[in-house]
Amino acid sequence: MTLWYVARAAGVVAMIMFTVAAAVGILTSGNRSPERRFWLQYVHRSAAVTGLVLLTAHVIAVIADANVDISPTVLLWPFGSGYRPFAMAVGALALYGVVLATLAGAARGRLAQYAAFAKYWRSIHIAASVGWLLSIGHALLAGTDRGTPWMLAITVCC
Ligand code: HEM
Repeated sequence: MTLWYVARAAGVVAMIMFTVAAAVGILTSGNRSPERRFWLQYVHRSAAVTGLVLLTAHVIAVIADANVDISPTVLLWPFGSGYRPFAMAVGALALYGVVLATLAGAARGRLAQYAAFAKYWRSIHIAASVGWLLSIGHALLAGTDRGTPWMLAITVCC
């Protein structure tokens, strides 16, 4: 059962990290002090990267775990899971959102010279917020612990 617990723990901490990244991102956009913006950006990116690393561990562990029937193809076709199909589809769509925002964020420095990219960057980055919201829906639908008071408290706080 170790892999199963690791998978779920990684999912919970990933969701918390994406919440921190989203909250700090909101604070950053309304802040005008350059020094404060620098530190807020630093925390925003660190939380997002930590969340992505944990999300990778979560997905690899749930696919590798023998307890549940989840094929890697669920990442390409989110509606084909043999285990809790709707909840897994919501999780896969959440993953698409955060991965899209990550790719756009990583490309930002190189593509900033193109006016079209600079113009649409913020709109593309909204995918992260959509992914974060979907990840909360996924946790409410999928988690074994979703009904326990402690897990409900974490999810509602997120
Ligand atoms: C942004 C993306 C995602 C986040 C933040 C996330 C987070 C979570 C959280 C918080 C839980 C609840 C843990 C618990 O209560 O035990 C969970 C459960 C789970 N997630 Fe994800 N998840 C994501 C994407 C995915 C994807 C893409 C898959 C499928 C490949 C997946 C498969 C699962 C499974 C199998 C469970 C356990 C269900 C159970 O306990 O019966 N997740 N996830």
